[in-house]
Amino acid sequence: MDFHELVTTRKSSRGYNPSAPVPPDVLTRILDAGRLAPSAKNLQPWKFLVITSPEKLDEVRACYDREWFRQAPQILIVKGDRNAAWVRPADSWNSLETDMAIAMDHLVLAAHAEGVATCWISAFDSVLLHKVLQLTPDEEIFAITPLGYASPDTETRPKTRKPLDEVVEYR
Ligand SMILES: Cc1cc2nc3c(=O)[nH]c(=O)nc-3n(C[C@H](O)[C@H](O)[C@H](O)COP(=O)(O)O)c2cc1C
Repeated sequence: MDFHELVTTRKSSRGYNPSAPVPPDVLTRILDAGRLAPSAKNLQPWKFLVITSPEKLDEVRACYDREWFRQAPQILIVKGDRNAAWVRPADSWNSLETDMAIAMDHLVLAAHAEGVATCWISAFDSVLLHKVLQLTPDEEIFAITPLGYASPDTETRPKTRKPLDEVVEYR
């Protein structure tokens, strides 16, 4: 699959086969793509949490109460440390969310290249997630994704995007 086909066919999956976890070698390749993501000043202010134990899955699932989210056999979380991210001297802008978004995008696209389904999720209960992951005040979760194989009866939404001439300007 070339890159254009990869980004054209990737879609959010909201249905998973609960009994088909992602095998360790596939998971490692996906995680390595996240590791290779660029970040401001190459500070890599992230950790990738792979939630696999039944106890932790139960706790994290409670943070985003959807039937399809409960089906996923694994959950991947990009955790960031605000103190470890780059701060622009001119105006103190902190790169944490940008760095985490790039890492997540690498992870999600790498997953799709392996045939693994994902769905960016930010609408989780942030307070509860901080509690169940025992995060410090400086640690942040920007997005999480289920990991697994899409169930055949998964509801799919058509890929709707603004046309290119609406989002591109040549000056
Ligand atoms: C930052 C971000 C947060 C998102 N949060 C959620 C979410 O909480 N729940 C959900 O079902 N989808 C969520 N999505 C998925 C978007 O709805 C989806 O990417 C968008 O509708 C485009 O569809 P596609 O991913 O299938 O191309 C999120 C996507 C992004 C990039």
